[in-house]
Amino acid sequence: MAAPVPAPEPVPGPSIAPDTTALDREAARLYDRGLEISASLFDQARRGQITQIDEARRWVEQFLTQLPRLRDATMRQFWRESPGNYLYAHSVNVTILLLIVAQGTNLPWRLDEIGLLGLLHDVGMAGAAESLAQQARALTKEEWETIRQHPKRNEHLVQSLSLSPEVKEALGQYHERAERQGYPEHKDVAEINEPARLLACCDAYESMTHARPFRPAMAPAEAVRHLLTQGAGLFDAQFLKTLVKELSLYPIGSRVRLNTGDAGEVCAVNREYPLRPVIFLTEDATGTAMTERHTLNLLEHPTLFIRESPGPRSPASS
Ligand SMILES: [Fe+2]
Repeated sequence: MAAPVPAPEPVPGPSIAPDTTALDREAARLYDRGLEISASLFDQARRGQITQIDEARRWVEQFLTQLPRLRDATMRQFWRESPGNYLYAHSVNVTILLLIVAQGTNLPWRLDEIGLLGLLHDVGMAGAAESLAQQARALTKEEWETIRQHPKRNEHLVQSLSLSPEVKEALGQYHERAERQGYPEHKDVAEINEPARLLACCDAYESMTHARPFRPAMAPAEAVRHLLTQGAGLFDAQFLKTLVKELSLYPIGSRVRLNTGDAGEVCAVNREYPLRPVIFLTEDATGTAMTERHTLNLLEHPTLFIRESPGPRSPASS
């Protein structure tokens, strides 16, 4: 009889802090459900009208209940790569950001409605525009015009739904920018409602920090720099500030490399010190995966600093 095969050495698990696995699984299930709901809203939109949002509303309510407990785990899902139509994950991610940032503003939002705004904000892309958005090539002027009409189609698609008037209005306005720089109606900033201005910030940040068929992802800190410089005056400064305060410059789940060359991902944020998060080290300076798990609180290591922020990691879904 052959000798018993020794039990394999434990394989280093996914690159997350050791005590977060159960929460990550829960957040992944909730995120997966969000993807299904987003896909079903796009399906309805392709048929010409959205009539069913009960499931979407239930998901938003469930998400809001779980957010205090699952916020960090949800942010790790935010960075994951979802194959297929990127608009589904984009809609879920924008919803996550909207709810986190809206809670940080202390404004009297109806958060269930703000969540629906996130899930519905790109349904007007369903059909021709969504096919164009998945192209890896430059679009023609006419093709861009088709895409630029999606806020108008949003308004048409949700007209029979019982949603607050502000949310219906925001669905048509969130691509408008200050100084009449946006579309489709080139409105002035005073004509753009608050939920639309909040959505504009979250939509832009999510888009920049995630890869598209036609361009790579930008590192989170770089996206913030871009929004605060090139986007200055176009986006609502107060909402941008709240977004950065809530996510921090190096958000949970994003990858960083230190001046020592060691690399890892952010597993906790020191809110008062956005440049000094807690890093879960995954890789040494030679690029070799670390076999021992340990975290490093940059607040306790004044000689260490983040040299580069190579962008998000891509954890597998549950
Ligand atoms: Fe959009």
